[in-house]
Amino acid sequence: MDYLELRNSFLSELHGVLNTVELQALRSKYTGKKGVVTQKLKAMAAAPKEERAALGKAVNEIKDFIETQVKEKETALSKKDTRSYVDLTLPGAYIKPGGRHPVKIILNEIIDIFVSMGFAVEDGPEVETDYYNFEALNIPQNHPARDMQDTFYIKPQGAESPSHSNVESNIVLRTHTSPVQIRVMEKRKPPLMFIAPGKVYRCDSDISHTPIFHQVEGLMVDEGITFANLKAVLEAFLHIVFGPDVPVRFRPSFFPFTEPSAEVDLCCFACKGSGCRVCKNSGWIEILGAGMVDPRVLNMAGIDTEVYSGFAFGLGIERIASLRYGIDDIRLFYEGDLRFLRQF
Ligand code: DAH
Repeated sequence: MDYLELRNSFLSELHGVLNTVELQALRSKYTGKKGVVTQKLKAMAAAPKEERAALGKAVNEIKDFIETQVKEKETALSKKDTRSYVDLTLPGAYIKPGGRHPVKIILNEIIDIFVSMGFAVEDGPEVETDYYNFEALNIPQNHPARDMQDTFYIKPQGAESPSHSNVESNIVLRTHTSPVQIRVMEKRKPPLMFIAPGKVYRCDSDISHTPIFHQVEGLMVDEGITFANLKAVLEAFLHIVFGPDVPVRFRPSFFPFTEPSAEVDLCCFACKGSGCRVCKNSGWIEILGAGMVDPRVLNMAGIDTEVYSGFAFGLGIERIASLRYGIDDIRLFYEGDLRFLRQF
C-alpha cells in the first residue's frame, strides 16, 4: 500500500465514523502499536540506508496527518454529542387535543335520537349508479335533479363525455341518501325501520350550499304504516332537537319518491313566527322533506304493496347545525378556520 492509498483509505473510513468509540478504534488501526503506519515505520529498518530519510519523512507526515484528522473529528463528534443529549428539564412538546366538528356533534346527536326510538343505522356507497340515485326512486329522466348543475357525474368508462341519456352506465356521486332506502329494501324484507346518515354531493356552492354536505335518511316500512306514524316520529324527533314547545308544521309538497309528500317546517325560533330575516318573513323554517313511500318505489324494490306501506324522510345536517348554532354561512363549516371550530 503506498502512502496516497493509505491516506485515502484512512479518510474514507474516517468519513464513516459515527462516535468516539469508532474513532478510537480507527486511530489504533492506523497509528496504534500494531497499526498500519507503525508497521511502516518499523519496516524502514530494512530499507536501504539512502532511502531511509525520505521514507521516514513520508511516514511521519502521514502519521501527523492522521493525528490531526482524528483530533478534528473528535471535536466535531463532541459538539454533535452535546446537541443530541436529552435535556430532561426542558418542558415537553404540548400536543393540543382535537375537538369534534360541529357537524359531527349534531350528526351524532340525531343518530342517538333515532336509535333511541328503535331505528337501525344503515350505510350505502357515496359513488352510486344512476339506477339507485334516480331511477329506482322514481326520478324520471327529465327531472331537474338530474341537471348537470346539481349532479356530479363520474365519466362512464369508455365514454367521451358524461351523458344524461346513457342512464345504464352513468355513475354519480350520490346527490342524497335516499338510494340507501332502495339498497336496504332489496336486501331485507319488512318490517324495516332504519336511518342512513352520510355524505352527499351536489355541484353547488353559496351561503347555504356546499358541494359536500350530510343528510340523514329515514325509512319505516311495515304493515299498516300511515301518515300518522310519520307525523309522530318526526314531531317527537324535532321536539327533542329544538325543544318540546316548538310548533311544527307539515306542508304539502312534492318528491318523486313519495306520495303524498310533505315538507316539515319549524316555527322560527328567532321571531317566534312573526316574520324576520332568519325565516325570510314567513315565520317558518323549512327543516326536512318526507312522505309516504310511493308504491312504485316499493314495487321496484320488490316489496308487496298489497301488504306493506311505509314512510320516508330526509334531513340536512348542516341546516340543523346552522340553526342550532346560529350560523348564517354554511361554508364556515368547511373552511377549517380554528377560530370558528374551537367554539363548539
Ligand atoms: N332526498 C331528498 C333530497 O335530498 C330529501 C327527501 C325528501 C328524502 C323526502 C326523503 C323524502 O326520504 O321522503 O332533497
